[in-house]
Amino acid sequence: MDPTGTGPRACGGAAIEGVALERIAADLGTPCFVYSRAAIERKWREYDEALADIPHWICYAVKANSNLAIIDVLGRLGAGFDIVSGGELERVRAARAPAARVVFSGVGKRDDEMAAALEAGVGCFNVESVPELDRLAAIAAAAGKRAPVSLRVNPDIDARTHPYITTGLSENKFGIPAADVRGLYARAAAHPSLEVCGIDCHIGSQLAEIEPYLAALDRLLVLMDTLAGDGIRLAHLNLGGGLGIRYRNESPPPPAALAGAIAERLAGREIMLMLEPGRSIVGNAGVLLTRVEYLKHNGSKRFAVVDAAMNDLIRPALYDAWHDIVPVRPRDGVPEPYEIVGPVCESGDFLARARPLVLEPGDLLAVHSAGAYAFVMSSNYNTRPRAAEVMVDGDRYHVVRKRERVCELFAGESVLPADPVSG
Ligand code: LLP
Repeated sequence: MDPTGTGPRACGGAAIEGVALERIAADLGTPCFVYSRAAIERKWREYDEALADIPHWICYAVKANSNLAIIDVLGRLGAGFDIVSGGELERVRAARAPAARVVFSGVGKRDDEMAAALEAGVGCFNVESVPELDRLAAIAAAAGKRAPVSLRVNPDIDARTHPYITTGLSENKFGIPAADVRGLYARAAAHPSLEVCGIDCHIGSQLAEIEPYLAALDRLLVLMDTLAGDGIRLAHLNLGGGLGIRYRNESPPPPAALAGAIAERLAGREIMLMLEPGRSIVGNAGVLLTRVEYLKHNGSKRFAVVDAAMNDLIRPALYDAWHDIVPVRPRDGVPEPYEIVGPVCESGDFLARARPLVLEPGDLLAVHSAGAYAFVMSSNYNTRPRAAEVMVDGDRYHVVRKRERVCELFAGESVLPADPVSG
């Protein structure tokens, strides 16, 4: 157990809270995601307390893990929600969280998604382009409503993270170039169906430092001052996602460090600060349990074939991401370097490479830091049912998503009608 409570083993070891991982695996089978309610709540409170001195609104980024139980747990703490699709809006509503606490981000919102979000009464649309603003205005006018809007600025700041999850550079598809922002605010402010309420940005995910946030904040503050000169007053400033987490040896700063630096810059301004953390709330609050099926040698390599695969956790294959892998009952012996691979028919199907472990078939492994961008990115590739999800709450656990059954995977499919009989 990580004594700091922040590292990949903040949640894990042989038990999560008061429940043994062996018990969950024996009851429900593997692969299986297990989340800790206490760890999720602790991380959310860390942000909330760090920002206590300034008006703030923390909107959990639902995309990181959209299970209803997680939305519910955070909703009970008063969290808002950052969504990127009509589907995520339906999840928030199914978890009985108020739509007014929702901000709707995303670069490609469809008409039906905008209409549904307006109807539900979301708190803000984070608009990313001129055509999106015009479309939202038209949909709001047709519905006889006013849409609350923030414009997402692309501040052209390098977040110094993996290129696939860098979003604030001018070459990325996201946001509105800073040079165009002023004109677009004027257009929004003049439209009777739009209500300008804020400004936002998001520069990337898994940020290991505070400086890129502050550089983005500085750009936004300059823009805000220019807009104030134009008579446009903004009620909130949204800095986007949260801090990175420790997967291996990263040491991202704590929320308090970020909050302190932001508060300093916001001193004397009447503005509500918003953040949309996802990964740092749930990432280290979850593990993926998997069992070793086979051990084999090919050439110079030792493989442990486990029952979780790239369809369950695609991060290693997609980003070359490192997740700690820990036997739930460690064995004595001399560790050997294992490739931890799944049953999927691709050589890219690996969870880890060259991990020194002592393993036997049947051993239960915990893949750490699997609470964020894990289940939500899972697929049915190779007709593999998606794993069960469990939330531990003290000394009890709840199945918060049943393991899929194979028949469900093709329930919406059909074969063609019979061929006409010829002759
Ligand atoms: N707000 C916006 C507009 C975002 O695009 C994102 C993440 C967040 C908030 C939440 O950022 P966080 O606090 O989680 O860093 N699948 C990738 C991560 C993609 C993140 C995309 N945007 C991964 O597995 O690393």
